[in-house]
Amino acid sequence: MTSKKKPENLRSYSWFGPDTMRGFSHRSRMMQVGYRREDFTGKPVIAIVNTWSEINPCHTHLRERAEAVKRGVWQAGGFPVEIPAFSITETYMKPSPMLYRNLLAMDTEEALRSLPIDGAVLMGGCDKTTPGLLMGAISANLPAIYLPAGPMLRGNWNGQPLGSGTDVWKFWAERCAGNVSDEDWNGIESGIARSPGFCMTMGTASTMTALSEALGMTVPGASSIPAVDSNHVRLAIDCGGRIVEMVWEDLKPRDILTPLALRNAITVDMAIGGSTNAIIHLVALARRLGFDLPLRVFDEISRHVPVLANIRPSGTFLMEDFYYAGGLRALMAEIRDLLNLDCITVNGKSLGENLQGARVVNSEVIRSREAPLMESGGTAILYGSLAPDGAVIKTVAADPRFWQHTGPAVVFTDFKDMEERIDREDLIVDENSVLVLQNAGPLGGPGMPEWGMLPIPKKLLQRGVRDMVRISDARMSGTAYGTCVLHVSPESYIGGPLALVRDGDNITLDIPSRKLDLLVPEQELERRRSEWIRPVPKEQRGYLALYRERVTQADKGCDFDFLLDAAESQI
Ligand code: FES
Repeated sequence: MTSKKKPENLRSYSWFGPDTMRGFSHRSRMMQVGYRREDFTGKPVIAIVNTWSEINPCHTHLRERAEAVKRGVWQAGGFPVEIPAFSITETYMKPSPMLYRNLLAMDTEEALRSLPIDGAVLMGGCDKTTPGLLMGAISANLPAIYLPAGPMLRGNWNGQPLGSGTDVWKFWAERCAGNVSDEDWNGIESGIARSPGFCMTMGTASTMTALSEALGMTVPGASSIPAVDSNHVRLAIDCGGRIVEMVWEDLKPRDILTPLALRNAITVDMAIGGSTNAIIHLVALARRLGFDLPLRVFDEISRHVPVLANIRPSGTFLMEDFYYAGGLRALMAEIRDLLNLDCITVNGKSLGENLQGARVVNSEVIRSREAPLMESGGTAILYGSLAPDGAVIKTVAADPRFWQHTGPAVVFTDFKDMEERIDREDLIVDENSVLVLQNAGPLGGPGMPEWGMLPIPKKLLQRGVRDMVRISDARMSGTAYGTCVLHVSPESYIGGPLALVRDGDNITLDIPSRKLDLLVPEQELERRRSEWIRPVPKEQRGYLALYRERVTQADKGCDFDFLLDAAESQI
């Protein structure tokens, strides 16, 4: 460890060190808690930013893990303080937990900025908590390590492994088609989530924690360890010890999160068949750092990166299997020629050094370069008259029959309209139709709820249809699948072309050409545009009013415009 700092240079020392009335006050209040002056004065004060909550099932073990982090901090000569942060729980927050990613980012930034903190261990995992914590840490720019909560154990029902989200959609479709009994349904319900930890498919949580490791913000191997594995406790202790060293070394997020590190994260995202939500979050992280990250960069990288992680929803296995197969280090070692190995990481070593010795031990779960799940293009960015600023599709989770498809639109003006009409017998729809959902974007949702995997109409389910082309300005759960075009920008709520689609209009999806077009003459579109009236917002006060006023579009990361870094350069 090369120390760049002396105790009197610590940020916290300006609170606890001076022989002033303020210094007296700060010390006496810490002594009120029962600490001695030498416990905290001149020692790195480490915030354990904890998103634990009793209503966040993915984080129920984080209280215990915080104690393990504290152990590591004390052992390394630091002073730990646990700070609760807003716990975004994917399961329960309506209309969309995405609304609160920016709130967690602000919570984190302001806690780190306003308190006598020298460094932070960030504890999260459930989808939005990873980007929220990282965005806040970037803006605060104090030394920080990310400690992923870890995936839960595999689900189990009748001896079959069950995957979070993915198997819910699958068995729900079968139940709607009349193929699953009450007893079986109850068995699935009690078997699908068996331990603390986040969703164990390659959903947004597993994707974002993997990308935090690829970015260099976790200790090597951290993102793959299951939540209840004893190795996860040792990981927490290691994070506590390492963050103290990072404070002395003055190693900060902006030293680690370079444009090349962001490219590594995008490369890994493609190789794991990551959640489409990761695109929005990576763009937001980049823009916090002052870099513009256009969507076309994702497409460029996707075109030469194979999908190797055989994990649901794109593949067969689950995150527990991924860990036993070697985990993310093994996958990154498999694509090391596609990564920037010189990027520095939180342990002070380069990514290349961290990958030494990593190897795949089960090539069914982590495929070789010779036998990938998909050669390339696992996620594609589409442009065209329906999405001038871009749209996203997870090709690897879509039925190849629809990769080039033209069909008539069946339009739902919002989620409520869809819920009311989707299963009606008189809905004019067949398997070639294109289901369109409007007003589900950043402002329209608000918060881009995960409505993008529109349900297949019941009458088609009963005829055996399991996939159709679906288009919206919403997001889709990372655990979902199907031919779902998402994040259409600009969104319909602000008058993007998606707002102008009417029943029966033909729409062309052409993934190989990266095109998404509305086949309606420009003159007719102009007429519809002149008649279009912006919907009246339901929320006029509080956080939602702020959100509607200041959030950016999906292709810009859905951050608040006033939180972005001023100096922008392109990646
Ligand atoms: Fe927390 Fe899925 S509900 S990660």
